[in-house]
Amino acid sequence: MIDFSKIPSPCYVLEERLLRRNLEILRRVQDESGVNIICALKGYSMFSSFDMIRQYLKGATASSLNEAKLCFEEMKSEAHLCAPAYLDHEFDELMRLCSHITFNSISQWEKFKNRIKNNSKKISCAIRINPEYSEIGTDLYNPAIPGSRLGVTADKFSDKLPEGIEGLHFHVLCENDSYTLERTLKVIEEKFGHLIKQCKWINFGGGHLITREDYNVEHLIKILKDFRARNNNIEVILEPGEAVGWRTGYLVSTIQDIIENKGIKVAILDISISTHMPDCLEMPYKPNIVGAANEVPEKQAYRMGGISCLAGDYVGDYSFDKPLQVGDKIIFEDMIHYTMVKTTTFNGVGLPSIGIWTEQDEFKLLRQFGYEDYKNRLS
Ligand SMILES: Cc1ncc(COP(=O)(O)O)c(C=O)c1O
Repeated sequence: MIDFSKIPSPCYVLEERLLRRNLEILRRVQDESGVNIICALKGYSMFSSFDMIRQYLKGATASSLNEAKLCFEEMKSEAHLCAPAYLDHEFDELMRLCSHITFNSISQWEKFKNRIKNNSKKISCAIRINPEYSEIGTDLYNPAIPGSRLGVTADKFSDKLPEGIEGLHFHVLCENDSYTLERTLKVIEEKFGHLIKQCKWINFGGGHLITREDYNVEHLIKILKDFRARNNNIEVILEPGEAVGWRTGYLVSTIQDIIENKGIKVAILDISISTHMPDCLEMPYKPNIVGAANEVPEKQAYRMGGISCLAGDYVGDYSFDKPLQVGDKIIFEDMIHYTMVKTTTFNGVGLPSIGIWTEQDEFKLLRQFGYEDYKNRLS
């Protein structure tokens, strides 16, 4: 059991045991279905845990030069790359760091294909497709909305894949289950089936929340096996980020003040919702807090306020068993994915430290941040 009194505030803390649990599930999917799973660095980049991740997953997917470098240096493997556009001056380095490159448009492929062909190292290339089908409810996260800039629609292809292209890539899921994937695959095979038959590999993107308690892993394994069997045993790649870091750790914070306005009590914390857990405002969603419940009428409710001056920098409301006091710790759950990779220093707010609660039940402080981290991004 994690002992939160040993953790400084504010701090993101990964619970190693929980990460291993997720990785065991992902390994089972790979072993039983024959697909390859790689980690999407945009969602999970806690590189001090890559030694463990490497034991289970087949590398990582990058969406920028920085992520490709991190994959190469810390995951110790060449990256799979997928981004809306590549920059001329970065492309040679990208080719050095990557084994697979997915192009978001036919024009991007046309622009770079000779550099790929003349490169001394073999790089396997794909086109990102847009099936114009997605069950994602939030437009901000939906790559299949009309007018989307992500992926090539079926009407833009001829009967043959462009020469030199070996794969296809789609990403139209977000926190979805295997039944959504099944329906999505049906649309994709209807629209792109003839192209899939010409491919060596297909990447099913991310958004598969395989490690959530209610995810039907057996069903996933079945549909992956069936898909491969229907398509010449094609190599299938999944690149989840959230499923890797799902419920693997916390953001530990401390109450600095409690104020009241029109009967609403607000705890002011040493973290910011806006800068340290931005998805809570963007999605939006209300994160769980250890020991707290949703507001109930018989108990005093508290809103959790951030330390930035953004008026909307708060989440709530929560009820606790006893009244809160200045100095109490507030522990937000599930704060490892899409948090550290998205933090900002808006308002000059400091970044939380990063640590690990190890499988040996010890706390390891990995990083602390200071003024230089804020100043280095300005001039
Ligand atoms: C192309 C691509 N692959 C993978 C992912 C990872 O998705 P998730 O973290 O939801 O599994 C994303 C997320 O936006 C993405 O855009």
